Amino acid sequence: MASFAKPQLLALVLCFLISIGTAHGSSFAAGHDCKAFHPIFAFGDSTTDTGNQVRSSANGTFSPAANPPYGSTFFKKATGRYSDGRLMVDFLTSALKEGFLPAHLEAPGKLRNASQNFAVAGATALDLKTLQRLANVTSFTPESLESELAAFSIETAGADFSNALVYFGEIGGNDFNYALAAHRPHKVLNSLFKPITHKISSSLDSLLKRGVKHIVVQGQFPMGCISLYLKTLNGTKTDKHGCIQSVMQISDRHNHKLKRIVHHLAKKHKHANIVFFDTSAAYVHILDHASKYNFTNVQDPCYVGALQQMIMPSTSTSSSSIHAPVINMKACPNPQNYVGWDGIHLTDAMYGKMMKLFLTDPSFSSPFPNFLTKCTKI
Ligand SMILES: *[C@@H]1O[C@H](CO)[C@@H](O)[C@H](O)[C@H]1NC(C)=O
Ligand SMILES: *[C@@H]1O[C@H](CO)[C@@H](O)[C@H](O)[C@H]1NC(C)=O
Ligand SMILES: *[C@@H]1O[C@H](CO)[C@@H](O)[C@H](O)[C@H]1NC(C)=O
Ligand SMILES: *[C@@H]1O[C@H](CO)[C@@H](O)[C@H](O)[C@H]1NC(C)=O
Ligand SMILES: *[C@@H]1O[C@H](CO)[C@@H](O)[C@H](O)[C@H]1NC(C)=O
Repeated sequence: MASFAKPQLLALVLCFLISIGTAHGSSFAAGHDCKAFHPIFAFGDSTTDTGNQVRSSANGTFSPAANPPYGSTFFKKATGRYSDGRLMVDFLTSALKEGFLPAHLEAPGKLRNASQNFAVAGATALDLKTLQRLANVTSFTPESLESELAAFSIETAGADFSNALVYFGEIGGNDFNYALAAHRPHKVLNSLFKPITHKISSSLDSLLKRGVKHIVVQGQFPMGCISLYLKTLNGTKTDKHGCIQSVMQISDRHNHKLKRIVHHLAKKHKHANIVFFDTSAAYVHILDHASKYNFTNVQDPCYVGALQQMIMPSTSTSSSSIHAPVINMKACPNPQNYVGWDGIHLTDAMYGKMMKLFLTDPSFSSPFPNFLTKCTKI
């Protein structure tokens, strides 16, 4: 099978992984009024981006989400989301009756102190200089956790965060995706875990120190279960959920570390509510009970446009393959029965079912009940 495509294509890649939650010390928000988490901010990669990447300088390079059929199921137009519809953060803010978070770049300078989303498709946890130094790879977008937080600081200087909610979406998956795409050896992949979790930890710590009291930390997706890896590594060892074992080990290990960080921060900041959503565990639970969740296809993407480009034979090195139109390829007629949307990202149906699990099922949220359980209806 074709080797991984050019790193810039993988860019949009989100990434993935898991582990199960031990309850950590955070208690239910003392007397928090469920009516108003405000403002709400989000950080992360393409699994949380509600429209930044298509408006950023990276748009010209490769932004399939700027065109249909992205958005076609729910919004009936492309919004810049890497899905046919809503993302997990959309389901959460809707359940809180706060509507959808505008992308930070939707109205530059006009959202001062207001709810907004800083997540960017392709973003890495490590800044590009560090990623380049450690793994000799780069990203298709200059954005990273650091630049997302820098934009946040500018937009919210002096703001009062006592009722704010931060949705800290998946970040760090792309660091691994870029390294995998470039066939970096184990030693290099191993060198990434510590700096990535350190970066995430210090970012969360700085939000808490600034007075944010409510934080959702989204675990990494189970990398080995995503179409991209199921296809490109087809034939290599799979686990009992049908996911590629070698890649699964990466997300498992990262999630294990991430969960420890969240546990530690919750202990250190007792006045705050920090909840960990175990993305990987929820995802494999749904794979294992696919028909119960109305999914008839858990491996193939509903829409093959973006994926096809990504796994194009590596002989096609001309930039034309990067810019090849994806708009002529058709999506499946029943995305509600598919887990995967474009080979990397998931469908509205899958994201919605996952968020419901986080808000209602003790197995996928630690602690549970969490500070959102009482405040959401989904
Ligand atoms: C991003 O690029 C696409 C394709 O070139 C274009 O149609 C779209 O309008 C751009 N989006 C923004 C927000 O500039
Ligand atoms: C980094 O990668 C490039 C291209 O893959 C290669 O030519 C170069 O030798 C690498 N540099 C180091 C320091 O490994
Ligand atoms: C945000 O609100 C605070 C408090 O009202 C204000 O002091 C600050 O200037 C505002 N920040 C921005 C970037 O407008
Ligand atoms: C993996 O390869 C087998 C045999 O060619 C094929 O039947 C299967 O559909 C492939 N799996 C994926 C996810 O493409
Ligand atoms: C399940 O999928 C079918 C289409 O195959 C759809 O009509 C139905 O609404 C879905 N049910 C749920 C509960 O999502």
